[in-house]
Amino acid sequence: MRIDIVSIFPGYFAALDVSLIGKAAARGDIEFHVHDLRRWAHDIHRTVDDTPFGGGPGMVMKPDVWAEALDEIVPPGEPGKPGEPGEPGKPGEPGDAGQPPRLIVPTPSGVPFTQAGAASYAGCPRLVFACGRYEGIDVRFVDEARSRMPVDEVSIGDYVLAGGEVAVLVMVEAIGRLLPGVLGNERSASDDSFGGDAALAGAGEAAPGGMAGLLEGPVYTRPRSWRGRDVPDVLLSGNHAVIERWRRDAALRRTLANRPDLIQRAAADPAGLDARDRQVLAEAGWPPHPAEVRRDDLSLTFRGGRHLPGAGLRAGEAGKTSSLTRLRGEYGTLKPAVCFPSAPGPVPPDTGLALVCPHMSPADKPSKQALREMLSCTPLLPN
Ligand SMILES: C[S@@+](CC[C@H](N)C(=O)[O-])C[C@H]1O[C@@H](n2cnc3c(N)ncnc32)[C@H](O)[C@@H]1O
Repeated sequence: MRIDIVSIFPGYFAALDVSLIGKAAARGDIEFHVHDLRRWAHDIHRTVDDTPFGGGPGMVMKPDVWAEALDEIVPPGEPGKPGEPGEPGKPGEPGDAGQPPRLIVPTPSGVPFTQAGAASYAGCPRLVFACGRYEGIDVRFVDEARSRMPVDEVSIGDYVLAGGEVAVLVMVEAIGRLLPGVLGNERSASDDSFGGDAALAGAGEAAPGGMAGLLEGPVYTRPRSWRGRDVPDVLLSGNHAVIERWRRDAALRRTLANRPDLIQRAAADPAGLDARDRQVLAEAGWPPHPAEVRRDDLSLTFRGGRHLPGAGLRAGEAGKTSSLTRLRGEYGTLKPAVCFPSAPGPVPPDTGLALVCPHMSPADKPSKQALREMLSCTPLLPN
């Protein structure tokens, strides 16, 4: 892969000489060409910016200087085709020399850079990065470039950096580590958060297996016991299938805690989560299959037809002891009474459900564990 980077601060890219990416470059797996934009400036001061039309603070980078740089780096006669606006890289086969170079313009107003985008770019034979500064680059440069080659405007996150250099370092490292032979352990990319190179392999972001669409769970190394904290026994068991399952369970829990949006996406994909995944999530508080809980005054029928006689399901406020107390008051001495944070059906999200079993003999009362299994959710208030 060849990567060209244009910047007014080429010194930033000394970092590409070190670590995995530096070694890949030394082997010739990635060829870097870093260009100082000021080479294409026209005046003695090597000016690359000017005041914005329409007024406003800051300066804007000049389109003519940028265009002349691009024309020299990717001469207009070279094979190229227009890109779709805002569309992330759509490479062909890795190493396909027939593909045109792709221009990537980092900007906070671009499409989000993701692991799938990194994997996609890793299949491109040639990328050109244009590092903006000040208020960014005059848009006509991007528009004109798009008329002759694919162009992506890409953001690395919802914040504003002072310049595109750090954004390019981020993207180049994410892309470069997915190139064949760059990571020491070929498996480690697909075991990483977001599934590593899953997109390169053609899997969707929420595909089951590995960490596709998920955050990786916790990791451990020696010593086995450290400051009173032990490595989970399962990781010492040597049973790879059990370990894999444990890792996926831990990944699901962490993803639910830190990025529930990813769980939402995986859950919306029929192939995204298996039955065990859903069970783990339900135990961690992810909503059960709400519409399938039917209720009447004195019984509950759950998904799968399981029936709990003598129980009443009442709306209550999640996490509020007073709501449970009120229900207890209504029914006299009620036990068990469990409040569920995940309300089914049309009940607003800030309400929960109180499950009360007023007419059950002690022998018939389900244990909290049984209730948990039946409802696939965690009681918020213990009985
Ligand atoms: C100060 S920023 C310009 C911000 C621009 N005026 C805006 O509000 O969208 C200067 C340069 O930093 C880079 N940059 C800043 N934040 C970025 C982000 N989140 N992702 C990618 N590039 C970013 C871009 O190259 C941008 O042209």
